[in-house]
Amino acid sequence: MRLLVWGRDGLGKSTLADYIGLRLSDKSIAVVMDTDLTQPTMPVRIPGIKVKKEKSLGRAIAGTGTSEIRPYLIQHPKHEGLFFSGVVSDEDYMEYELGLDSSVNAGIFMNSCAAQCDHVIVDCSGQRTDPFLPDALIKSDKILILISPDLQGISWWRSIKPLIDEMKVDHKVIPVISQLHEHHNEKWLQEGYGFNQCVALPFARELNLNRSSGRIEQNLTTRAGRSWQKAVDALISDLTRNRGDGRG
Ligand SMILES: Nc1ncnc2c1ncn2[C@@H]1O[C@H](COP(=O)(O)OP(=O)(O)OP(=O)(O)O)[C@@H](O)[C@H]1O
Ligand SMILES: [Mg+2]
Repeated sequence: MRLLVWGRDGLGKSTLADYIGLRLSDKSIAVVMDTDLTQPTMPVRIPGIKVKKEKSLGRAIAGTGTSEIRPYLIQHPKHEGLFFSGVVSDEDYMEYELGLDSSVNAGIFMNSCAAQCDHVIVDCSGQRTDPFLPDALIKSDKILILISPDLQGISWWRSIKPLIDEMKVDHKVIPVISQLHEHHNEKWLQEGYGFNQCVALPFARELNLNRSSGRIEQNLTTRAGRSWQKAVDALISDLTRNRGDGRG
């Protein structure tokens, strides 16, 4: 399965992508790709593990490294089937000069991953210039779009909707209202956005604590955490059931 997780900064894309990756990697090979090439994202996934610069996703996309994909897939130390790809520690904001061919390289990279792994989860940055975005929108089986439960979220959704329509990928989109607090009214929000169906994920402080310590928690314990997990597990079942391959 190819999944795109997309949305504005800080809404919980990586938290969601990593958890889905972890679940899917139980029975198969899953790779989570963080397309933010402006900062190291690997240290958050696998804290304490020093990854060589040669293994940075930035190199693959800038076209300055090997064309093999295997060196860029970094295995999680505790979860055999889970791999990450992204910018590694000690790389800076200006490290990669991304030219016109970066979108082509990003497309080739994602295709190669899809050919060699069971599941590819592309955790796309909110930046408009993200070289992965065009191909990921077109080629993903499903597109999870994270939206905040406020006016800013509604405005952002309306601003990207023409692109979704233009690219004719509307049928693949699953809107995810992220970080809902108890004072939010899910039904009103859904109406405000104009969604027939969406996934609602609660704000769970526990996720924040886990992420700060580099853990992808398999069993959340707080009420909000359990409710987040239940909603994401249901989403994963839908995603895998709809494909009918039973993988994951
Ligand atoms: N449902 C949630 N409830 C509470 N905190 C959350 C939730 N989801 C994510 N967080 C926290 O919010 C912060 C941002 O999450 P995350 O890094 O997953 O977002 P992101 O969308 O990937 O951000 P970026 O755009 O910077 O890549 C993290 O500290 C994370 O622990
Ligand atoms: Mg992120």
